Amino acid sequence: MPGFGNDFETEALPGALPQGMNSPQKVNYGLYGEQLSGTAFTAPSHQNERTWCYRIRPSVKHSGRYRKIDLPYWKSAPHVDPDVVSLGQCRWDPVPHSDAPLTWLTGMRTMTTAGDVNIQVGMASHIYLVTESMQDSYFYSADSELLVVPQEGRLRFCTELGVIDLEPKEIAILPRGLIYRVELLDGPARGFVCENYGQKFELPGRGPIGANCMANRRDFKTPVAAYEDRDVRSTVTIKWCGQFHETEIGHSPLDVVAWHGNYAPCKYDLRTYCPVGAVLFDHPDPSIFTVLTAPSGVEGTANIDFVLFRERWMVAENTFRPPWYHKNVMSELMGNIYGQYDAKPQGFVPGGMSLHNMMLPHGPDKTAFEGASNADLKAEKLDNTMSFMFETRFPQHLTRFAAKEAPLQDDYIDCWESLEKKFDGTPGVK
Ligand SMILES: [Fe+2]
Repeated sequence: MPGFGNDFETEALPGALPQGMNSPQKVNYGLYGEQLSGTAFTAPSHQNERTWCYRIRPSVKHSGRYRKIDLPYWKSAPHVDPDVVSLGQCRWDPVPHSDAPLTWLTGMRTMTTAGDVNIQVGMASHIYLVTESMQDSYFYSADSELLVVPQEGRLRFCTELGVIDLEPKEIAILPRGLIYRVELLDGPARGFVCENYGQKFELPGRGPIGANCMANRRDFKTPVAAYEDRDVRSTVTIKWCGQFHETEIGHSPLDVVAWHGNYAPCKYDLRTYCPVGAVLFDHPDPSIFTVLTAPSGVEGTANIDFVLFRERWMVAENTFRPPWYHKNVMSELMGNIYGQYDAKPQGFVPGGMSLHNMMLPHGPDKTAFEGASNADLKAEKLDNTMSFMFETRFPQHLTRFAAKEAPLQDDYIDCWESLEKKFDGTPGVK
């Protein structure tokens, strides 16, 4: 179903969805009515999100006594490892797959954390390495919504509200509290996850750009209702305040036969993102490429911006066209989905990541600088490129995995070493 944040309605069996009301005395098919609230009851109406589910069993039957389990590679903020240096420009090669069978849960590898999960501010960035489907095993995060950015392999998210098949060049948003199972369609699968502890992702205001371009609402797709009526021993894992808990039940919790509301998962094809940029001179701030933004409460200062650097035409005259040199109060974590990024022709490869933390300088390497400074500035298609950024107002702390196990490039800062002093006090272009 197309639309971002629409009020959807869908039923997998005819007549399962009550009409004109939410809580009839008895629901058709013997279903139970239940509300899933994604915002406070009293949130302003334009931000209020909830979905009414009509299900085989109420969710209290999908939950028993909990026991804590350990998922040692999935960390939550605040997580400051005293043995890890987070200060410094960082870049990683793609995290390779191992022989170990890994599911969505055991294959999640936290790279950075920011903010504090307990007060619902900040985020974490993860790499996932999935080689195995979850079987009779389900998950939800009470801590966060998850923004999933596949880089390799296809995944199927079987959720309470329907099924999402996801492949590279697409993204998915899985709301806080939504139960799902992740299956491998073809693998191995690798990708990036932004775990948003704070206010939900929304579309950025376009300001003078107007009603169109960037990410358009109609290109977001939400699944139709799909349910499982399967009585089989199953586990549900819950992430809650940074800790993992498991409970056993005797059936699939994906038993919503019909639902209506505006709190639902969705996916989006990044190839439908319509970039807007400079058509005469200069290089706008990268916020021009924002796909989604999660507000922090301070106007214009995001808890997280999800920013996309995709194929586009470069036409600016008399302009240094790549991203300029920069130091930022926000911290910038980037990932490469495919192709070559214009500010870093080498070293930042598909599946790789980089981190330019709060107030740490960064910018084009020597090759990019010299190339762009001396280029013949004809109209040029920046082709075969798709990278993204998770940008947050909070500093990002590296996990031990990111600092010691993942393929961190020791020589990344050398990419600026050969930039020489050109100034000699005499005027003129050097
Ligand atoms: Fe930057």
